Amino acid sequence: MRVLTVQNNEEMAQKAADILLAQVILKPDCVLGLATGSTPLGAYRSMAARNKEVSFAQVKTVNLDEYCGLDATSPDSYVSYMRENLFSHIDIDIANTYLPDGMQEDVSAACNAYTALIARLGGIDLQLLGIGHNGHIGFNEPDTVFQMDTHCVTLSKSTLDANAVHFARPADMPKKAITMGMRPIMQAERVLLLAGKEKQSILQEALYGPVTPQVPASILQLHKHVIVIYVAA
Ligand code: F6R
Repeated sequence: MRVLTVQNNEEMAQKAADILLAQVILKPDCVLGLATGSTPLGAYRSMAARNKEVSFAQVKTVNLDEYCGLDATSPDSYVSYMRENLFSHIDIDIANTYLPDGMQEDVSAACNAYTALIARLGGIDLQLLGIGHNGHIGFNEPDTVFQMDTHCVTLSKSTLDANAVHFARPADMPKKAITMGMRPIMQAERVLLLAGKEKQSILQEALYGPVTPQVPASILQLHKHVIVIYVAA
């Protein structure tokens, strides 16, 4: 595990963008696993600003998660987030960008389809992650077991409280989501975990505490190639 400490969010964003762009330079047809939320926004802005340097024409992306019940037209869906913050600024083919389908009535079919999709793509070359205040990665919430494949989760109070700010009407925030499980994350060639300074305490627990599904990110201690960039408090 490489742990890089930076002084501020801007530095974290630059370094994360460097690593993501380097991945695309080294393997132009790579599969990037992407995250949403506040943490990666700076990295996406930086990638957008450098969109003449690197082509995403052959890149495929799989996102970690999507809320149940929000379709692509909802400004609060992660489809909208990705279009707004990254995809509309780079030359990626939107047909090569994938998120779990939170609108399917048969949720378990939607989960199985996403698991199969990731396998069909040949797995993930570089998975970008943030971390929740409770140690979640994707929406893999604290649990009694590590959930391995794509599944539907009831979001914890901690996650609902943290993410409500992103909704124009917080009461509209869905209570359920579909998330990629631990298997594709752990099978990704590389993992890049970003954490702002407000995450310092849970990050320490995840990186140096016991490996337990109660702190889902702790499983990353077992991954062969993790880069962590965190902002010093
Ligand atoms: C987002 C995701 C989540 C977030 C985490 C941190 O796709 O899967 O695990 O990375 O909740 O969110 P922020 O960055 O908003 O603090």
